[in-house]
Amino acid sequence: MAPAAGGTSEGSGTTPVVGAAATTAAGEPGATGGPGATAVVAGQLGSTALPVGSAGEPWSSGVRRGNDGAVEVAGVGVAELAADHGTPSYVLDEADFRARARAYRTAFEAAFAAVGTGVDVYYAGKALLTMAVARWAREEGLRVDTASGGELAVALRAGVPGEAIGLHGNNKSDAEIAHAFDHGVGRIIVDSLAEIDRVADLAAERGVVAPVMVRVTTGVHAGGHEYISTAHEDQKFGLSVNVAAGPGTDSPAMAALLRILERPSLRLLGIHSHIGSQILDPDGFEAAARAVLELRAELATRTGVLVGEVDLGGGYGIAYLPGEVALDPERVAQDIASSVAEAAANLGTPLPRFSIEPGRAIVGPAGMTLYTVGTVKPVTVGGDDGEPFTRLYVSVDGGMSDNIRPALYGADYHAEVVGRSSVAEPVLARVVGKHCESGDIVVHQVMLPGDVRAGDLLAVAATGAYGRSMASNYNMLPRPPVVGVRDGASRVLVRRETEDDLLRLDQG
Ligand code: LLP
Repeated sequence: MAPAAGGTSEGSGTTPVVGAAATTAAGEPGATGGPGATAVVAGQLGSTALPVGSAGEPWSSGVRRGNDGAVEVAGVGVAELAADHGTPSYVLDEADFRARARAYRTAFEAAFAAVGTGVDVYYAGKALLTMAVARWAREEGLRVDTASGGELAVALRAGVPGEAIGLHGNNKSDAEIAHAFDHGVGRIIVDSLAEIDRVADLAAERGVVAPVMVRVTTGVHAGGHEYISTAHEDQKFGLSVNVAAGPGTDSPAMAALLRILERPSLRLLGIHSHIGSQILDPDGFEAAARAVLELRAELATRTGVLVGEVDLGGGYGIAYLPGEVALDPERVAQDIASSVAEAAANLGTPLPRFSIEPGRAIVGPAGMTLYTVGTVKPVTVGGDDGEPFTRLYVSVDGGMSDNIRPALYGADYHAEVVGRSSVAEPVLARVVGKHCESGDIVVHQVMLPGDVRAGDLLAVAATGAYGRSMASNYNMLPRPPVVGVRDGASRVLVRRETEDDLLRLDQG
Protein backbone atom coordinates (compact mmCIF):
# COMPACT_ATOMS: atom_id res chain seq x y z
CA MET A 1 0.00 0.00 0.00
CA ALA A 2 1.56 3.24 -1.04
CA PRO A 3 -0.50 6.35 -0.77
CA ALA A 4 0.28 8.80 -3.54
CA ALA A 5 1.21 11.63 -1.29
CA GLY A 6 3.55 11.59 1.65
CA GLY A 7 2.81 7.95 2.35
CA THR A 8 4.61 5.89 4.95
CA SER A 9 2.81 2.57 4.61
CA GLU A 10 4.51 1.61 1.37
CA GLY A 11 4.86 -2.08 0.78
CA SER A 12 2.42 -3.41 3.33
CA GLY A 13 0.78 -5.17 0.44
CA THR A 14 -2.08 -6.98 2.09
CA THR A 15 -4.44 -4.75 4.01
CA PRO A 16 -7.25 -3.09 2.14
CA VAL A 17 -7.41 0.53 3.04
CA VAL A 18 -10.90 1.83 3.30
CA GLY A 19 -11.74 5.39 4.00
CA ALA A 20 -9.64 7.80 5.89
CA ALA A 21 -6.17 6.26 5.82
CA ALA A 22 -4.35 9.27 4.50
CA THR A 23 -6.67 12.12 5.30
CA THR A 24 -4.80 15.36 5.40
CA ALA A 25 -6.92 18.29 6.34
CA ALA A 26 -6.09 21.93 6.20
CA GLY A 27 -3.99 22.91 9.12
CA GLU A 28 -2.47 19.47 9.55
CA PRO A 29 1.12 18.97 8.49
CA GLY A 30 1.43 19.05 4.75
CA ALA A 31 -1.69 21.00 3.93
CA THR A 32 -1.27 24.48 2.62
CA GLY A 33 -4.50 25.25 4.39
CA GLY A 34 -7.15 27.67 3.36
CA PRO A 35 -10.90 27.71 3.39
CA GLY A 36 -12.67 24.72 2.00
CA ALA A 37 -9.68 22.45 2.45
CA THR A 38 -10.98 20.57 5.45
CA ALA A 39 -12.68 17.72 3.65
CA VAL A 40 -9.83 17.03 1.31
CA VAL A 41 -8.47 13.53 1.33
CA ALA A 42 -5.03 12.53 0.18
CA GLY A 43 -3.97 9.41 -1.70
CA GLN A 44 -5.98 6.29 -1.04
CA LEU A 45 -5.05 3.75 -3.65
CA GLY A 46 -5.09 0.30 -2.14
CA SER A 47 -2.72 -2.48 -3.06
CA THR A 48 -5.39 -5.07 -2.41
CA ALA A 49 -8.55 -5.57 -4.42
CA LEU A 50 -11.67 -4.56 -2.57
CA PRO A 51 -15.03 -6.26 -2.87
CA VAL A 52 -17.48 -4.57 -5.19
CA GLY A 53 -19.42 -1.88 -3.43
CA SER A 54 -16.78 -1.35 -0.76
CA ALA A 55 -17.34 1.69 1.30
CA GLY A 56 -14.84 4.42 0.77
CA GLU A 57 -13.24 3.22 -2.42
CA PRO A 58 -13.85 5.14 -5.62
CA TRP A 59 -11.38 3.08 -7.67
CA SER A 60 -12.17 -0.07 -9.61
CA SER A 61 -11.37 -3.32 -7.83
CA GLY A 62 -8.48 -4.00 -10.24
CA VAL A 63 -6.56 -0.87 -9.22
CA ARG A 64 -3.45 -1.42 -7.13
CA ARG A 65 -0.43 0.65 -6.25
CA GLY A 66 2.78 -1.35 -6.36
CA ASN A 67 5.74 -1.04 -4.05
CA ASP A 68 7.42 1.36 -6.46
CA GLY A 69 4.42 3.66 -6.18
CA ALA A 70 3.24 3.01 -9.73
CA VAL A 71 -0.39 2.04 -10.17
CA GLU A 72 -1.72 -0.75 -12.32
CA VAL A 73 -5.24 -1.58 -13.43
CA ALA A 74 -6.13 -5.22 -13.95
CA GLY A 75 -2.42 -5.96 -14.09
CA VAL A 76 -1.53 -3.25 -16.63
CA GLY A 77 0.73 -0.45 -15.43
CA VAL A 78 -0.31 3.12 -16.03
CA ALA A 79 3.02 3.89 -17.74
CA GLU A 80 2.33 1.10 -20.22
CA LEU A 81 -1.22 2.36 -20.76
CA ALA A 82 0.05 5.87 -21.39
CA ALA A 83 2.79 4.64 -23.73
CA ASP A 84 0.47 2.38 -25.71
CA HIS A 85 -2.62 4.56 -25.87
CA GLY A 86 -1.54 8.09 -25.00
CA THR A 87 -3.30 10.45 -22.61
CA PRO A 88 -5.92 11.46 -21.84
CA SER A 89 -7.54 8.03 -21.97
CA TYR A 90 -10.56 6.50 -20.33
CA VAL A 91 -9.45 3.20 -18.81
CA LEU A 92 -12.16 0.65 -18.21
CA ASP A 93 -11.64 -2.38 -15.95
CA GLU A 94 -13.63 -5.15 -17.61
CA ALA A 95 -13.65 -7.51 -14.61
CA ASP A 96 -14.89 -4.73 -12.36
CA PHE A 97 -17.69 -3.84 -14.80
CA ARG A 98 -18.71 -7.48 -15.01
CA ALA A 99 -18.55 -7.96 -11.24
CA ARG A 100 -20.80 -4.96 -10.64
CA ALA A 101 -23.24 -6.10 -13.33
CA ARG A 102 -23.34 -9.54 -11.71
CA ALA A 103 -23.65 -8.08 -8.23
CA TYR A 104 -26.72 -6.07 -9.22
CA ARG A 105 -28.31 -8.94 -11.11
CA THR A 106 -27.76 -11.56 -8.43
CA ALA A 107 -28.71 -9.25 -5.56
CA PHE A 108 -31.98 -8.23 -7.19
CA GLU A 109 -32.78 -11.74 -8.42
CA ALA A 110 -32.29 -13.17 -4.93
CA ALA A 111 -34.24 -10.43 -3.16
CA PHE A 112 -37.19 -10.54 -5.56
CA ALA A 113 -37.23 -14.35 -5.68
CA ALA A 114 -37.51 -14.27 -1.90
CA VAL A 115 -40.78 -12.33 -2.20
CA GLY A 116 -42.05 -14.54 -4.99
CA THR A 117 -41.39 -12.61 -8.18
CA GLY A 118 -38.74 -12.00 -10.82
CA VAL A 119 -36.63 -9.09 -11.97
CA ASP A 120 -34.75 -8.09 -15.12
CA VAL A 121 -31.73 -5.83 -14.95
CA TYR A 122 -31.26 -3.45 -17.87
CA TYR A 123 -27.87 -1.76 -18.16
CA ALA A 124 -28.53 1.94 -18.85
CA GLY A 125 -26.40 2.56 -21.91
CA LYS A 126 -26.48 6.33 -21.55
CA ALA A 127 -23.81 5.99 -18.85
CA LEU A 128 -21.38 4.51 -21.40
CA LEU A 129 -22.21 2.44 -24.43
CA THR A 130 -19.66 0.80 -26.68
CA MET A 131 -20.11 -2.49 -28.48
CA ALA A 132 -17.80 -4.27 -26.03
CA VAL A 133 -19.62 -2.80 -23.04
CA ALA A 134 -22.98 -3.90 -24.44
CA ARG A 135 -21.62 -7.42 -24.91
CA TRP A 136 -20.21 -7.55 -21.38
CA ALA A 137 -23.58 -6.50 -20.01
CA ARG A 138 -25.29 -9.15 -22.10
CA GLU A 139 -22.83 -11.87 -21.12
CA GLU A 140 -23.50 -11.05 -17.47
CA GLY A 141 -27.21 -11.63 -18.02
CA LEU A 142 -28.30 -8.01 -18.30
CA ARG A 143 -30.52 -6.41 -20.90
CA VAL A 144 -29.78 -3.00 -22.37
CA ASP A 145 -31.69 0.23 -21.91
CA THR A 146 -31.23 2.77 -24.71
CA ALA A 147 -32.26 6.42 -24.89
CA SER A 148 -31.88 7.23 -28.59
CA GLY A 149 -31.60 5.72 -32.04
CA GLY A 150 -27.82 5.98 -31.71
CA GLU A 151 -27.67 3.97 -28.49
CA LEU A 152 -30.10 1.48 -30.02
CA ALA A 153 -27.81 1.12 -33.05
CA VAL A 154 -24.77 0.40 -30.86
CA ALA A 155 -26.63 -2.21 -28.82
CA LEU A 156 -27.96 -3.91 -31.95
CA ARG A 157 -24.57 -3.81 -33.68
CA ALA A 158 -23.09 -5.45 -30.58
CA GLY A 159 -25.48 -8.33 -31.09
CA VAL A 160 -27.95 -7.57 -28.31
CA PRO A 161 -31.26 -9.05 -29.47
CA GLY A 162 -34.06 -6.55 -29.93
CA GLU A 163 -36.26 -8.22 -27.35
CA ALA A 164 -33.59 -7.58 -24.69
CA ILE A 165 -33.55 -3.84 -25.41
CA GLY A 166 -35.71 -1.03 -24.05
CA LEU A 167 -36.08 2.31 -25.85
CA HIS A 168 -36.57 5.51 -23.87
CA GLY A 169 -36.87 9.15 -24.83
CA ASN A 170 -39.25 12.03 -24.22
CA ASN A 171 -39.13 13.07 -27.88
CA LYS A 172 -38.47 10.01 -29.98
CA SER A 173 -38.46 10.57 -33.72
CA ASP A 174 -40.62 8.51 -36.05
CA ALA A 175 -37.40 7.04 -37.43
CA GLU A 176 -36.31 5.92 -33.95
CA ILE A 177 -39.68 4.32 -33.31
CA ALA A 178 -39.63 2.59 -36.69
CA HIS A 179 -36.09 1.37 -35.99
CA ALA A 180 -37.35 -0.14 -32.75
CA PHE A 181 -40.20 -1.93 -34.56
CA ASP A 182 -37.86 -3.23 -37.27
CA HIS A 183 -35.63 -4.88 -34.67
CA GLY A 184 -38.36 -6.19 -32.39
CA VAL A 185 -37.34 -3.99 -29.47
CA GLY A 186 -38.82 -5.52 -26.34
CA ARG A 187 -40.25 -2.37 -24.80
CA ILE A 188 -40.82 1.20 -25.86
CA ILE A 189 -41.23 3.44 -22.85
CA VAL A 190 -43.75 6.10 -23.81
CA ASP A 191 -43.54 9.50 -22.22
CA SER A 192 -46.59 11.53 -23.32
CA LEU A 193 -50.15 11.17 -24.60
CA ALA A 194 -49.05 12.51 -27.98
CA GLU A 195 -46.37 9.86 -28.20
CA ILE A 196 -48.86 7.11 -27.37
CA ASP A 197 -50.90 8.14 -30.40
CA ARG A 198 -47.82 8.41 -32.58
CA VAL A 199 -46.47 4.97 -31.62
CA ALA A 200 -49.93 3.45 -32.02
CA ASP A 201 -50.40 5.00 -35.47
CA LEU A 202 -46.94 3.96 -36.67
CA ALA A 203 -47.47 0.42 -35.35
CA ALA A 204 -50.88 0.19 -37.00
CA GLU A 205 -49.44 1.40 -40.32
CA ARG A 206 -46.80 -1.34 -40.16
CA GLY A 207 -49.16 -4.02 -38.95
CA VAL A 208 -47.27 -4.61 -35.71
CA VAL A 209 -48.31 -4.54 -32.08
CA ALA A 210 -45.90 -2.38 -30.08
CA PRO A 211 -45.00 -3.42 -26.52
CA VAL A 212 -45.09 -0.27 -24.38
CA MET A 213 -44.61 0.89 -20.82
CA VAL A 214 -45.75 4.25 -19.50
CA ARG A 215 -43.19 6.43 -17.78
CA VAL A 216 -44.81 8.03 -14.77
CA THR A 217 -43.69 10.61 -12.25
CA THR A 218 -44.56 9.87 -8.66
CA GLY A 219 -43.58 13.15 -7.05
CA VAL A 220 -40.60 11.44 -5.42
CA HIS A 221 -37.53 13.58 -5.89
CA ALA A 222 -34.17 11.97 -5.25
CA GLY A 223 -30.62 12.22 -6.38
CA GLY A 224 -27.47 14.19 -6.37
CA HIS A 225 -28.40 17.30 -8.29
CA GLU A 226 -31.62 18.98 -9.33
CA TYR A 227 -30.83 18.49 -13.02
CA ILE A 228 -30.54 14.74 -12.62
CA SER A 229 -33.63 14.25 -10.44
CA THR A 230 -36.43 13.44 -12.76
CA ALA A 231 -39.52 12.32 -10.88
CA HIS A 232 -40.63 15.61 -9.37
CA GLU A 233 -43.47 17.23 -11.22
CA ASP A 234 -42.17 20.34 -12.98
CA GLN A 235 -39.97 18.79 -15.63
CA LYS A 236 -40.23 17.19 -19.03
CA PHE A 237 -40.22 13.47 -18.18
CA GLY A 238 -43.12 11.16 -17.61
CA LEU A 239 -46.77 11.51 -16.75
CA SER A 240 -47.80 12.44 -13.25
CA VAL A 241 -49.65 10.00 -11.02
CA ASN A 242 -50.66 12.90 -8.77
CA VAL A 243 -51.49 16.06 -10.57
CA ALA A 244 -54.68 16.02 -12.65
CA ALA A 245 -55.53 18.86 -15.00
CA GLY A 246 -58.74 19.58 -13.14
CA PRO A 247 -61.18 18.24 -10.53
CA GLY A 248 -62.74 14.92 -11.45
CA THR A 249 -60.26 14.25 -14.24
CA ASP A 250 -57.81 11.40 -14.39
CA SER A 251 -54.16 11.88 -13.58
CA PRO A 252 -52.04 12.08 -16.74
CA ALA A 253 -50.56 8.68 -15.86
CA MET A 254 -54.00 7.06 -15.60
CA ALA A 255 -55.13 8.80 -18.78
CA ALA A 256 -52.10 7.40 -20.60
CA LEU A 257 -52.73 3.86 -19.39
CA LEU A 258 -56.38 4.07 -20.45
CA ARG A 259 -55.43 5.51 -23.84
CA ILE A 260 -53.03 2.60 -24.47
CA LEU A 261 -55.71 0.04 -23.63
CA GLU A 262 -57.93 1.62 -26.29
CA ARG A 263 -55.36 1.09 -29.05
CA PRO A 264 -55.17 -2.43 -30.51
CA SER A 265 -51.74 -1.72 -32.03
CA LEU A 266 -50.29 -1.28 -28.52
CA ARG A 267 -49.64 -3.91 -25.89
CA LEU A 268 -49.44 -2.47 -22.37
CA LEU A 269 -46.56 -4.18 -20.59
CA GLY A 270 -46.51 -2.08 -17.49
CA ILE A 271 -45.48 1.07 -15.68
CA HIS A 272 -42.06 2.71 -15.49
CA SER A 273 -40.68 5.08 -12.87
CA HIS A 274 -37.19 6.59 -12.74
CA ILE A 275 -36.71 8.97 -9.86
CA GLY A 276 -33.25 10.41 -10.37
CA SER A 277 -29.58 9.60 -10.38
CA GLN A 278 -26.71 9.21 -7.88
CA ILE A 279 -29.21 8.29 -5.15
CA LEU A 280 -27.61 7.19 -1.90
CA ASP A 281 -30.75 6.58 0.16
CA PRO A 282 -33.08 3.69 -0.83
CA ASP A 283 -36.20 5.35 0.64
CA GLY A 284 -37.00 7.16 -2.62
CA PHE A 285 -37.08 3.92 -4.61
CA GLU A 286 -39.45 2.39 -2.08
CA ALA A 287 -41.82 5.39 -2.04
CA ALA A 288 -41.92 5.54 -5.83
CA ALA A 289 -42.49 1.79 -6.10
CA ARG A 290 -45.44 2.02 -3.70
CA ALA A 291 -46.98 4.84 -5.76
CA VAL A 292 -46.59 2.81 -8.95
CA LEU A 293 -48.18 -0.26 -7.36
CA GLU A 294 -51.12 1.89 -6.22
CA LEU A 295 -51.61 3.19 -9.75
CA ARG A 296 -51.44 -0.38 -11.06
CA ALA A 297 -54.07 -1.53 -8.56
CA GLU A 298 -56.31 1.43 -9.44
CA LEU A 299 -56.07 0.58 -13.13
CA ALA A 300 -57.00 -3.02 -12.32
CA THR A 301 -60.03 -1.89 -10.32
CA ARG A 302 -61.20 0.36 -13.13
CA THR A 303 -60.49 -1.86 -16.12
CA GLY A 304 -59.80 -5.38 -14.88
CA VAL A 305 -56.31 -5.11 -16.42
CA LEU A 306 -53.52 -5.86 -13.96
CA VAL A 307 -50.30 -4.98 -15.78
CA GLY A 308 -47.55 -7.54 -15.48
CA GLU A 309 -44.43 -5.38 -15.14
CA VAL A 310 -43.07 -2.48 -13.15
CA ASP A 311 -39.72 -0.86 -13.95
CA LEU A 312 -38.09 1.13 -11.17
CA GLY A 313 -35.46 2.82 -13.34
CA GLY A 314 -31.87 3.48 -12.40
CA GLY A 315 -30.13 5.93 -10.10
CA TYR A 316 -28.10 3.74 -7.71
CA GLY A 317 -25.39 5.96 -6.26
CA ILE A 318 -21.65 5.27 -6.14
CA ALA A 319 -18.63 6.55 -4.21
CA TYR A 320 -16.76 9.33 -5.99
CA LEU A 321 -14.49 10.25 -3.09
CA PRO A 322 -12.55 8.16 -0.60
CA GLY A 323 -14.79 7.57 2.38
CA GLU A 324 -18.05 7.99 0.49
CA VAL A 325 -20.35 5.01 0.77
CA ALA A 326 -22.01 3.61 -2.34
CA LEU A 327 -25.46 2.06 -2.23
CA ASP A 328 -25.03 -1.61 -1.48
CA PRO A 329 -26.88 -3.66 -4.13
CA GLU A 330 -27.90 -6.39 -1.70
CA ARG A 331 -29.27 -3.98 0.85
CA VAL A 332 -31.13 -1.83 -1.60
CA ALA A 333 -32.54 -4.89 -3.39
CA GLN A 334 -33.81 -6.34 -0.13
CA ASP A 335 -35.27 -3.01 0.99
CA ILE A 336 -37.12 -2.51 -2.27
CA ALA A 337 -38.29 -6.14 -2.46
CA SER A 338 -39.69 -6.17 1.05
CA SER A 339 -41.34 -2.84 0.62
CA VAL A 340 -43.05 -3.77 -2.67
CA ALA A 341 -44.14 -7.10 -1.20
CA GLU A 342 -45.78 -5.30 1.70
CA ALA A 343 -47.38 -2.70 -0.56
CA ALA A 344 -48.77 -5.33 -2.93
CA ALA A 345 -50.15 -7.35 -0.01
CA ASN A 346 -51.86 -4.24 1.37
CA LEU A 347 -53.36 -3.54 -2.02
CA GLY A 348 -54.48 -7.15 -2.41
CA THR A 349 -52.71 -7.52 -5.77
CA PRO A 350 -50.12 -10.12 -6.78
CA LEU A 351 -46.64 -8.74 -7.38
CA PRO A 352 -45.68 -7.81 -10.94
CA ARG A 353 -42.36 -8.76 -12.49
CA PHE A 354 -39.89 -5.95 -11.86
CA SER A 355 -37.02 -4.42 -13.76
CA ILE A 356 -34.32 -1.92 -12.90
CA GLU A 357 -31.97 0.16 -15.06
CA PRO A 358 -28.66 0.86 -13.33
CA GLY A 359 -26.02 2.66 -15.40
CA ARG A 360 -23.63 4.58 -13.17
CA ALA A 361 -23.47 1.83 -10.52
CA ILE A 362 -22.24 -0.67 -13.11
CA VAL A 363 -19.77 1.37 -15.15
CA GLY A 364 -18.89 4.40 -13.01
CA PRO A 365 -16.31 2.88 -10.67
CA ALA A 366 -15.00 0.58 -13.42
CA GLY A 367 -13.59 3.60 -15.27
CA MET A 368 -10.87 6.10 -14.56
CA THR A 369 -9.33 8.81 -16.68
CA LEU A 370 -5.58 8.84 -17.14
CA TYR A 371 -4.05 12.26 -17.82
CA THR A 372 -0.57 13.71 -18.13
CA VAL A 373 0.22 16.72 -16.00
CA GLY A 374 1.40 19.84 -17.81
CA THR A 375 1.62 23.28 -16.29
CA VAL A 376 1.73 23.41 -12.48
CA LYS A 377 1.07 26.84 -11.02
CA PRO A 378 0.77 27.92 -7.38
CA VAL A 379 -1.92 30.56 -7.01
CA THR A 380 -2.19 32.61 -3.86
CA VAL A 381 -5.81 33.12 -2.91
CA GLY A 382 -7.31 35.50 -0.36
CA GLY A 383 -9.25 33.32 2.06
CA ASP A 384 -12.69 34.17 3.49
CA ASP A 385 -11.04 35.04 6.78
CA GLY A 386 -8.57 37.34 4.99
CA GLU A 387 -5.70 34.86 5.42
CA PRO A 388 -4.11 34.22 2.03
CA PHE A 389 -3.43 30.60 1.15
CA THR A 390 -1.93 28.79 -1.79
CA ARG A 391 -3.75 26.49 -4.13
CA LEU A 392 -1.67 24.52 -6.59
CA TYR A 393 -3.30 24.56 -10.04
CA VAL A 394 -2.37 21.33 -11.79
CA SER A 395 -3.25 21.41 -15.49
CA VAL A 396 -3.86 18.17 -17.36
CA ASP A 397 -4.09 17.38 -21.06
CA GLY A 398 -7.90 17.07 -21.12
CA GLY A 399 -10.61 18.77 -19.11
CA MET A 400 -14.25 19.72 -19.45
CA SER A 401 -14.47 18.13 -22.90
CA ASP A 402 -13.78 14.67 -21.46
CA ASN A 403 -15.60 15.24 -18.16
CA ILE A 404 -18.25 17.93 -18.09
CA ARG A 405 -19.69 16.79 -14.75
CA PRO A 406 -17.70 19.10 -12.45
CA ALA A 407 -18.66 22.13 -14.55
CA LEU A 408 -22.26 21.04 -15.13
CA TYR A 409 -23.21 19.62 -11.75
CA GLY A 410 -20.43 20.77 -9.44
CA ALA A 411 -19.53 17.09 -9.19
CA ASP A 412 -16.59 16.14 -6.99
CA TYR A 413 -13.91 13.68 -8.00
CA HIS A 414 -10.77 12.21 -6.51
CA ALA A 415 -7.37 12.26 -8.23
CA GLU A 416 -3.96 10.82 -7.50
CA VAL A 417 -0.52 10.93 -9.03
CA VAL A 418 -0.28 7.35 -10.23
CA GLY A 419 3.03 6.97 -12.03
CA ARG A 420 5.33 7.10 -9.01
CA SER A 421 5.45 7.44 -5.26
CA SER A 422 6.39 10.64 -3.54
CA VAL A 423 7.48 11.53 -0.06
CA ALA A 424 6.77 15.22 -0.64
CA GLU A 425 4.23 16.79 1.70
CA PRO A 426 0.74 16.87 0.22
CA VAL A 427 -0.56 20.27 -0.82
CA LEU A 428 -4.00 21.59 -1.60
CA ALA A 429 -4.45 21.27 -5.34
CA ARG A 430 -7.06 21.88 -8.01
CA VAL A 431 -6.89 19.81 -11.16
CA VAL A 432 -7.85 21.85 -14.22
CA GLY A 433 -8.07 21.17 -17.92
CA LYS A 434 -6.67 22.90 -20.99
CA HIS A 435 -9.83 24.62 -22.21
CA CYS A 436 -10.37 28.34 -22.62
CA GLU A 437 -12.64 28.62 -19.65
CA SER A 438 -11.95 29.19 -15.97
CA GLY A 439 -14.75 26.75 -15.08
CA ASP A 440 -12.74 24.02 -16.78
CA ILE A 441 -12.15 22.15 -13.55
CA VAL A 442 -11.55 18.41 -13.33
CA VAL A 443 -11.19 18.09 -9.55
CA HIS A 444 -12.12 21.04 -7.37
CA GLN A 445 -9.87 20.15 -4.49
CA VAL A 446 -7.60 17.30 -3.66
CA MET A 447 -4.36 16.83 -1.78
CA LEU A 448 -1.55 16.01 -4.20
CA PRO A 449 2.14 15.51 -3.46
CA GLY A 450 3.88 18.88 -3.31
CA ASP A 451 6.37 17.79 -5.97
CA VAL A 452 3.68 17.06 -8.60
CA ARG A 453 5.21 18.16 -11.88
CA ALA A 454 4.89 18.22 -15.65
CA GLY A 455 5.01 14.71 -17.07
CA ASP A 456 3.43 13.05 -14.05
CA LEU A 457 0.60 10.64 -14.78
CA LEU A 458 -2.53 11.58 -12.87
CA ALA A 459 -5.68 9.48 -12.66
CA VAL A 460 -9.18 10.60 -11.76
CA ALA A 461 -11.34 7.88 -10.21
CA ALA A 462 -14.87 6.78 -11.06
CA THR A 463 -15.19 8.50 -14.44
CA GLY A 464 -16.67 5.46 -16.20
CA ALA A 465 -20.23 6.81 -16.19
CA TYR A 466 -21.24 9.97 -18.04
CA GLY A 467 -17.63 10.85 -18.89
CA ARG A 468 -17.11 9.57 -22.41
CA SER A 469 -20.86 9.53 -23.03
CA MET A 470 -21.12 13.28 -22.37
CA ALA A 471 -17.77 14.21 -23.90
CA SER A 472 -17.55 17.00 -26.46
CA ASN A 473 -15.06 18.43 -28.91
CA TYR A 474 -14.97 21.83 -27.22
CA ASN A 475 -11.94 23.78 -28.41
CA MET A 476 -11.64 21.10 -31.08
CA LEU A 477 -10.10 18.61 -28.72
CA PRO A 478 -10.31 15.08 -30.10
CA ARG A 479 -12.18 12.82 -27.69
CA PRO A 480 -10.01 10.32 -25.76
CA PRO A 481 -10.14 6.59 -26.44
CA VAL A 482 -11.88 4.07 -24.24
CA VAL A 483 -9.27 1.45 -23.35
CA GLY A 484 -10.41 -1.82 -21.84
CA VAL A 485 -8.07 -3.64 -19.45
CA ARG A 486 -8.31 -7.24 -18.42
CA ASP A 487 -5.93 -9.95 -17.17
CA GLY A 488 -2.79 -7.91 -17.72
CA ALA A 489 -3.64 -6.73 -21.23
CA SER A 490 -5.22 -3.62 -22.68
CA ARG A 491 -7.35 -3.20 -25.79
CA VAL A 492 -8.83 -0.16 -27.51
CA LEU A 493 -12.63 -0.33 -27.31
CA VAL A 494 -13.23 3.08 -28.89
CA ARG A 495 -10.24 4.68 -30.57
CA ARG A 496 -8.99 8.18 -29.96
CA GLU A 497 -10.40 10.80 -32.29
CA THR A 498 -7.93 12.50 -34.57
CA GLU A 499 -7.88 15.97 -36.02
CA ASP A 500 -8.81 14.32 -39.32
CA ASP A 501 -11.94 12.96 -37.64
CA LEU A 502 -12.81 16.47 -36.56
CA LEU A 503 -12.18 17.89 -40.02
CA ARG A 504 -14.05 15.11 -41.80
CA LEU A 505 -17.37 16.67 -40.81
CA ASP A 506 -16.38 20.16 -41.94
CA GLN A 507 -17.56 20.69 -45.50
CA GLY A 508 -15.36 23.73 -46.07
N1 LLP B 1 -33.19 4.83 -16.55
C1 LLP B 1 -33.63 6.02 -16.95
C2 LLP B 1 -34.99 6.16 -17.48
C3 LLP B 1 -32.81 7.15 -16.84
O1 LLP B 1 -33.26 8.33 -17.23
C4 LLP B 1 -31.50 7.00 -16.32
C5 LLP B 1 -30.61 8.16 -16.21
C6 LLP B 1 -31.07 5.73 -15.94
C7 LLP B 1 -31.94 4.65 -16.06
C8 LLP B 1 -29.70 5.46 -15.41
O2 LLP B 1 -29.42 6.16 -14.25
P1 LLP B 1 -28.11 5.81 -13.40
O3 LLP B 1 -28.26 4.43 -12.85
O4 LLP B 1 -26.94 5.88 -14.31
O5 LLP B 1 -28.08 6.85 -12.36
N2 LLP B 1 -25.64 12.92 -16.80
C9 LLP B 1 -26.00 12.78 -15.41
C10 LLP B 1 -26.90 11.59 -15.16
C11 LLP B 1 -28.16 11.67 -15.97
C12 LLP B 1 -29.00 10.45 -15.76
C13 LLP B 1 -30.16 10.46 -16.68
N3 LLP B 1 -30.95 9.30 -16.61
C14 LLP B 1 -24.73 12.66 -14.59
O6 LLP B 1 -23.66 12.74 -15.17
O7 LLP B 1 -24.78 12.54 -13.38
